[in-house]
Amino acid sequence: MNKKVYIETYGCQMNVADSETVASIMQSRDFLPETSVNDADVVILNTCSVRDNAEQKIYNRLDFLKGLKRRKKHLKVGIIGCMAQRVADKLLEHEAVDFVAGPDAYRNLPDLVNETDIELKTINTEFDITETYSGITQFKSDEDAISGFIPITRGCNNFCSYCIVPYTRGRERSASYKDIILEVKNLKEKNYKEITLLGQNVNSYYFEDENNKVDFPKLIEMVAEEAPEMRIRFTTSHPKDISDELIEAIAKHKNICNHIHLPVQSGSNNVLKLMNRKYTKEWYLERMDKIKSTIPDCGLSSDIFCGFSGESEEDFMQTLDLMKTVEYDSAFMFKYSVRPGTAAAKNLVDDVQETEKVERLNRMIKLQNEISLKKNREDIGKTFEVLVEGYSKRSNESLFGRTQQNKVVVFPAENVKKGDFVLVKIDEVSSATLKGTIIK
Ligand code: SAH
Ligand code: SF4
Ligand code: F3S
Repeated sequence: MNKKVYIETYGCQMNVADSETVASIMQSRDFLPETSVNDADVVILNTCSVRDNAEQKIYNRLDFLKGLKRRKKHLKVGIIGCMAQRVADKLLEHEAVDFVAGPDAYRNLPDLVNETDIELKTINTEFDITETYSGITQFKSDEDAISGFIPITRGCNNFCSYCIVPYTRGRERSASYKDIILEVKNLKEKNYKEITLLGQNVNSYYFEDENNKVDFPKLIEMVAEEAPEMRIRFTTSHPKDISDELIEAIAKHKNICNHIHLPVQSGSNNVLKLMNRKYTKEWYLERMDKIKSTIPDCGLSSDIFCGFSGESEEDFMQTLDLMKTVEYDSAFMFKYSVRPGTAAAKNLVDDVQETEKVERLNRMIKLQNEISLKKNREDIGKTFEVLVEGYSKRSNESLFGRTQQNKVVVFPAENVKKGDFVLVKIDEVSSATLKGTIIK
């Protein structure tokens, strides 16, 4: 009988896309997709290692699965993704775990699962610098999905000193632009309305064949022209690589969303240097000025974290200053978590006390909430094109969607449905959402 596979995804959008790739690989080898953990024969956790608390969540989940396995003797449990790569041996020792596979080993996953019937535990954490999962169309469990991810690069070569990703995902590689365009066509045929091009640093996309040399600005223009009716998004860009060509391509194409997520991490040059980010605060602010002058209504967001090794109160204040200068619409904010094996773990002292990290994080969040509210208030009275994503969580009488700038808008449900583009005039805002009414 065919085994039923349930996949649970943690971490970033790369993992979300990878889970769909894995589902597709499993299905091609006669495993069946399953949406309930209790009914599955195989449970796969696709994991993240970016901060310690991301890994703790997985250990907690494994404790639950250990209990489930006591009741269901035939159940197999596997760990894939970044944590599988980072702590494979430790995971294999865990009572609940039967198989472990790193991010480059997914083609081999059906075999790894089948082999657990013969061997006690199986593992594959080999890196494969050529692996881009070419030829695999991602499996979508949601029949009426309107938004899809296309991974265009895998891995990372930047080695920011605090970050585990280059160790868990290996060296950077770019997918063929021909594969990417095929996937765009595929999503277009399925009536998708939005595509997000994914990579740890999409701006370093580069693929060359006998006919073409394609960099990221060129790729995004090809994608935008292939699907003029679809919204195109991309994430993440590294500030050191955000070029004038890209900013101009966004300005030129109506369907490339006016939103740039450009993680700054810190506003202090001392800290940026210790982080090995390869840009200064001045460089970053100049890039922001270029974006603001070329795309006046561009949504701006960031990743920022506090409490990195050597961050003084003065350094931290400079981060707050930068946030006030840029005025991000939103930001993901964290406190520093040492990742074993990284340059920072080896060479720097984690010298900001935990209580101080928490206090700085709270100050940062408070400031960003104020800025988000101020930015959202500026939208009152304006009209935005919104892609309807579905009914709002709170009520069946309201729909929600996103503006090009990536802001969530809630509005009364009128003759429109998921996947429609509508014009919404903003009447009311909070720091997190806009509320409005459809005008067309
Ligand atoms: N490639 C992307 C994002 C990678 S991870 C980029 O370069 O921007 C997502 C975010 O997690 C990072 O931008 C950073 O803000 C945060 N992060 C990464 N490592 C961290 C660590 N050790 N402690 C706390 N936050 C971290
Ligand atoms: Fe990590 Fe830096 Fe690579 Fe982003 S660019 S994934 S923060 S090493
Ligand atoms: Fe986490 Fe790996 Fe993404 S560490 S943030 S799942 S690339």
